[in-house]
Amino acid sequence: MSAAFAITTPIYYVNGAPHIGHTYTTCVADTLARWRRLRGEEVYFQTGTDVHGDKAVEAALAAGEAPEAFTRRMSAEWRQTWDELGIAYDRFIQTTDADHVAGVKLILQRLWERGEITFREYEGLYCVGCERFLSDRDMQDGLCRDHERAPELRSESNYFFRMSRHFGWLARTLEEQPGLIRPARYKAEVLGMIRDDSGLSDLCISRPRQRLAWGIELPFDSNYVCYVWFDALLNYLVGCGFPEDSGWEARWRNTHHLIGKDILKPHGVFWPTMLHAAGLPLYRSLNVHGFWNMEDRKIGKSLGNMVDPRVMKQRYGFEPFRYFLLREMAYGQDGSFSEAALARRIDADLANNLGNLLSRTLDMLARYCGGRIPTPPGQDGASTEGEAERQLREATAETAAAVDRFVEEVALHRALEAIFALLNQTNRTLEQCAPWKAAKEGRQKDVEEILRTCCNVLRAAGLLLAAFLPEAAAEILSRLGAASALKTARLPEDAAAWNALPPGTQTRKAPPLFPRAPRP
Ligand code: MSP
Repeated sequence: MSAAFAITTPIYYVNGAPHIGHTYTTCVADTLARWRRLRGEEVYFQTGTDVHGDKAVEAALAAGEAPEAFTRRMSAEWRQTWDELGIAYDRFIQTTDADHVAGVKLILQRLWERGEITFREYEGLYCVGCERFLSDRDMQDGLCRDHERAPELRSESNYFFRMSRHFGWLARTLEEQPGLIRPARYKAEVLGMIRDDSGLSDLCISRPRQRLAWGIELPFDSNYVCYVWFDALLNYLVGCGFPEDSGWEARWRNTHHLIGKDILKPHGVFWPTMLHAAGLPLYRSLNVHGFWNMEDRKIGKSLGNMVDPRVMKQRYGFEPFRYFLLREMAYGQDGSFSEAALARRIDADLANNLGNLLSRTLDMLARYCGGRIPTPPGQDGASTEGEAERQLREATAETAAAVDRFVEEVALHRALEAIFALLNQTNRTLEQCAPWKAAKEGRQKDVEEILRTCCNVLRAAGLLLAAFLPEAAAEILSRLGAASALKTARLPEDAAAWNALPPGTQTRKAPPLFPRAPRP
């Protein structure tokens, strides 16, 4: 069980429904996984749910259900959403899965035996309403934000992971492996978090059972359960087959994590130090993205319902929404969402640029060439390649190589930008070559040359878009009479192959690939 490429999303909390933020990360992961599969690599893609801890218990209580039943039901709902949206994950992990629980206990035991965990008293501000210790963020003017009451000073004995001992090692590792945390500014943020004066030291990894029973029991003290973050991070390792599967390490060493910037500290500090303390290798890379905002406010649980991916699917079709997410946000930076912007992108890029090129090409092919792919020059012994064709052939090869590079950098917006620039150039060339005029003037060879050239570009676009817009890409290829191309294609090279559609292949006209967006 080895994999040349393993990709993960965070495992999501089940106290709410999937919104645009979760959908974005999941679509990025899905696109990367699909692209690598099309490159012929063995891929492992994992997502799932994080079901332990206070938040889950609170949400279960509010729903009038036991935590176990509630989180099982909610996990099934999350999983079903990703299935409905066509997300091709390999494993959907849930932190109650038996192998996960066993893996967490094994690592806790190992850290305990290695002297990486200590037991001591902790003093802090405790809110009875929340039934937990508060952090600065939970308070305003000395009061608990949620309960608007003063917390009490309380002490409690707990287990602590001796995290800060590994900060020196972590700082050196980050300097030695510049690509470990991307983009680079998040690496700088992590270095700031582990500086001597940052205030971050050891990590409390237990909760007394009488206060929180919904968690994984510590293997060395049954009066405590494991802190939810410590538990959750280990899902990544367990998913790779740790510890039983002999191939876990190869898979783990090729694991790339995708996360949002709000969970940088657990992934950039807790996680690598946990691995190091347990004598395990590091993940391959941590890729941090920004927030989706709406009118400058982060879209979250309260605003989130406004951008429910299932509602977006109903209103616009899921792939147009997915296209918007991947095209609009530069990975690492914040993005801004509005339905007006979504509608503009759908109309300009999908309906006009791509959709029109496909319709016009196939309509004219039907009208002037019996709907069949014309014979390329050289094969009929007569013509040679014209200037317009040469330019588009070269641009196609450059685009295929650029897309591969951009996907490697997780710059999916740039990959899409490159593909749509090629389509735009093709539309302009089609306009200039004006096959409708050539047809009137009886220049059949010219008609065939430009339409065959457009089919070549559309075939390339179909292959290059397959990881981004799987259904639309398959439809493009099917209309070009190349429905099976995706089964055998090796990207990026095969996208650049010119005249790969056999002459005489029957193409198919059909209604617009993407209708214009309904007005919001
Ligand atoms: N359960 C933890 C992750 C544990 S991973 C070992 C968690 N879950 S979450 O459901 O709250 O959030 C998951 C992801 O959604 C995070 O990466 C977070 O950044 C992302 N997003 C939540 N709101 C977001 C936006 N508005 N925009 C983009 N992503 C944001 O944290």
